[in-house]
Amino acid sequence: MDLRVAVFASGGGSNFQALVERARQYRVAFLVCNRPRAGALERAKNLNIPAYILAPRIFGDENLYADAVLDLLHKENIGLIALAGYLSKIPARIIGEFQGRILNIHPALLPRFGGKGFYGSRVHRAVLEANETVSGATVHFVDEDYDTGPILLQKKVPVLADDTPDSLAARVLRVEHDLFPEAIHLIAQGRVQIQDRHVTIHSPADDH
Ligand code: GRF
Repeated sequence: MDLRVAVFASGGGSNFQALVERARQYRVAFLVCNRPRAGALERAKNLNIPAYILAPRIFGDENLYADAVLDLLHKENIGLIALAGYLSKIPARIIGEFQGRILNIHPALLPRFGGKGFYGSRVHRAVLEANETVSGATVHFVDEDYDTGPILLQKKVPVLADDTPDSLAARVLRVEHDLFPEAIHLIAQGRVQIQDRHVTIHSPADDH
């Protein structure tokens, strides 16, 4: 059976859509969104993917929120969580239970330009202010801190002399739309191993 993936998103949801449309050997089972007016919800409707609005503030207590999310993940037989622009911290209990099975996409080359507060256009503004000539996208495993988990895939993107945060974001986003489905496809094929925070990607023929 295909790997069943839950996507968590808070914003426009273009990565969510790319994950649905480019799915190979995995299936996006549903979307979790923490804001009622996110573009991702509209996309879920158009793509015919079930969507749930779940946020700690709706439950008034982080433990109840974690219970509700875990219930859903178990009921739907979810093997992997994909964070695609999800702006709410994932409770430690969920990270503990889904160790090595939560991925996040970040719009820069981690470990640079990551960590608390580095999200959205702030990331791209910081890259431009640092006069970088190269940026990119990173898919990494999620641990209990921000953007510090083991890196699975990265791809570079050139920074152009006349870039604005918006133009750079758009160029990086196009790369994200290939990179995230590719990363999940590798996991679905059973080719990814993490040991002591070190990621190995086996070639398709490897016997591991
Ligand atoms: C992406 O740039 C992703 O790297 C970051 O949040 C953004 C989400 O964009 N984590 P979208 O909602 O998928 O369009």
